[in-house]
Amino acid sequence: MKRGQAAQRADALRAEIERHSRLYYEEATQEISDREFDILLQELVDLEARYPSLAPPNSPTQRVGGKALSQFPPVYYTIPMLSLSNAYERQTLTDFDARIRSDLKSDDFTYIVEPKIDGVGISVRYEHGHLVTGSTRGDSLKGDNITENIKTIASIPIELRGDAVPEVLEVRGEAFISKNIFERLVAQQKRKGEERFANPRNTAAGSLKQLDPRIAASRHLAAFFYATGETSGIEFQSEHDLLERLDSLSIPAVPWHRKCANLEEVNSAIDELQFVRDDLPFEIDGAVVKVDERRYHSLLSTTAKSPRWAIAFKYQAERAETVVRSITDQVGRTGVITPVAELEPVQLAGSVIRRATLHNLQDIDRKGVRVHDHVIIEKAGEVIPAVLKVVGSRRSGLEKPYTQPSECPECGSAVIQRENEVALRCDNLLCPAQAVRLLRHFASRGGLDIEGIGEVVAERLVENAQVRTPIDIFDLAEDSLAKLDLGDKSKKRELGIETARRMCQAMARAKSAPLSRWLFALGIEHVGKSVAIRIADTHTNLAHVADSSILRGLAEYFDLVSESQLVNPRSKTNTKKTPDERMKLQQKQTEIQDRMRLVGESLTKAGVLRPKAGEHAQPWDCVTTGIGPDAAQRVVSFFESEVGISILERLRSLQIDPLGNKATDTPIADTALKGRVVVLTGGLESMTREKAGERIRASGGKVGSGVSRNTSFIVTGNKPSDIKVAAARRLGVKELTEEQLIKVLERQ
Ligand code: IVH
Repeated sequence: MKRGQAAQRADALRAEIERHSRLYYEEATQEISDREFDILLQELVDLEARYPSLAPPNSPTQRVGGKALSQFPPVYYTIPMLSLSNAYERQTLTDFDARIRSDLKSDDFTYIVEPKIDGVGISVRYEHGHLVTGSTRGDSLKGDNITENIKTIASIPIELRGDAVPEVLEVRGEAFISKNIFERLVAQQKRKGEERFANPRNTAAGSLKQLDPRIAASRHLAAFFYATGETSGIEFQSEHDLLERLDSLSIPAVPWHRKCANLEEVNSAIDELQFVRDDLPFEIDGAVVKVDERRYHSLLSTTAKSPRWAIAFKYQAERAETVVRSITDQVGRTGVITPVAELEPVQLAGSVIRRATLHNLQDIDRKGVRVHDHVIIEKAGEVIPAVLKVVGSRRSGLEKPYTQPSECPECGSAVIQRENEVALRCDNLLCPAQAVRLLRHFASRGGLDIEGIGEVVAERLVENAQVRTPIDIFDLAEDSLAKLDLGDKSKKRELGIETARRMCQAMARAKSAPLSRWLFALGIEHVGKSVAIRIADTHTNLAHVADSSILRGLAEYFDLVSESQLVNPRSKTNTKKTPDERMKLQQKQTEIQDRMRLVGESLTKAGVLRPKAGEHAQPWDCVTTGIGPDAAQRVVSFFESEVGISILERLRSLQIDPLGNKATDTPIADTALKGRVVVLTGGLESMTREKAGERIRASGGKVGSGVSRNTSFIVTGNKPSDIKVAAARRLGVKELTEEQLIKVLERQ
């Protein structure tokens, strides 16, 4: 090879080696195996040996090596640098605790809980108070001597302070980069146009492996210590004692810990730590639980890898970083179009996440999310994960902003935006996406609980035009349902007669479901389960709801509240007006308040408002008992709309008349006892419970003992069972007084 060629090849090798070592140390990934890396490095070493002038001082042969070619001399440990066994579930901690109790045959010990710092394990040896070596964990018996790099960590003392300096003290801990320093480093790299670090832990690891300590120094590492290796001339009674004495020797001890008397306290310390996790200036990936008293450590001993007196409880990742592949639009049950981030699949809290909600355009704008962005996703409770934020430092400039759709992605009709709403909507009530989702909601357990209507069945029913609105399912005959094809193009698969029969039975039961469940099932916006129950509590049946002066009154009351605020002569804008104008406003306000008082009183009687409490409350000030202004307004508009009117008509012709809970003198529309289940609770005055039961049965009804979904009425007598009444209210079962029961029995 000519010198020119050799120079070219050496340059190419250096670039390649640098790239792979960056991937390895800073991004924790590998494109080639260690062996392939060694071959590249060896070729460069040979070339540079043949042409020494080709070797620049910063050549990778001078600086880095693969694991096998470590440039650092070894350090041997007399006491191995152990790892910890892991617990991912609380049960594992319970087992750990039980094992310790049985091994020690004693309950006379305590635990200490510390953060599990997400950094790089290091060991630092002091002799007569001088730092002599700093080293990595290596294979637990032999580590790399990285003393010069360790010395660049400002918080690690080179000389110990205090008056009890021991002969030998090996302390073990974790070197790391704090969260804010890491952010600064990344910002710096961005300014210089350099490739970014992947995360604090890999950056810390990469920094400690630099042959030039100036590089390590520039990374501003920190360290905390929590364990010991070889010691001489010093003894620690407990882990707690160790942490305290480290501090007095000027060695930074792990900064947060809790002493715990038992497993219960351990569990709450773990919860507490998780709670403060985000506020800690360093990354942690769990909690370490240790038996505090050292006298028990030797008794409990160690396995080859880890002590049996300690365990690491790893927090499930509730946040994860991934990439947005695309942003799609999803049409919800009420027609709201929600942008959804389609993600590179990522593990989060035990499941693989592929999609995350982005809520709406405002949300996307606020977070600045674009297609191809690296994002942090978060799981909050049980809901679908949401995109928390963009990792700005990982932008390449090729990210594409999201554009809102102008047409519904499902049915192609133009999208609309309602006044004062951020969401886009498809207003086509016959949009298949809405029909499928409405049907599934209608049949869901909280709705009418019609078993068998899952995603595929609902889709097929809508596709085949057998169902356009959920009520249409009552027109389906058992045998035609049985033939519903659930297969795909290549293979037919029929629903089958068994399933069809069960579905039809569930539909028959649904016909007599209480009003609250019907209201919820209809999928009216703002009508969740609790609003539905409140409406059913105050109305007799659907016809009453559709024609409700209570709901109209509520809508009016809340309108009056806003109006009264607008004309308030003492409001910020109105104080600028002339005295004459303000006088008129005052008059107007008094009129509004009079009306509010009137409406408020009647709605308080109806049970949907109650007088506001507190010393500043005025006689016209009321608060809702659960039905808010939006819900009241939506229900009223729903039953005024074409869809609502047609639903009422269809229900009438199907003889479906769900009953509410309101005890009124207006005749209850459908009180047929035939086939209905009545539960009696408490004592009756005019007859015994046995007699009442007999009469119910004589009318074709059944008497149930416990309240369930299938209960039609509950009759509450003297001292009723609280449990039964509460269950009835939760399930929306109609309550009858003894008097009403008698009326109902008389009508049979
Ligand atoms: S105690 C014999 N305590 O986690 C003592 N380790 O996965 C064993 N770590 O190797 C270690 N924070 O590098 C201990 N508070 C803490 C820790 C901790 C982080 C690291 C350490 C260990 C690894 C085990």
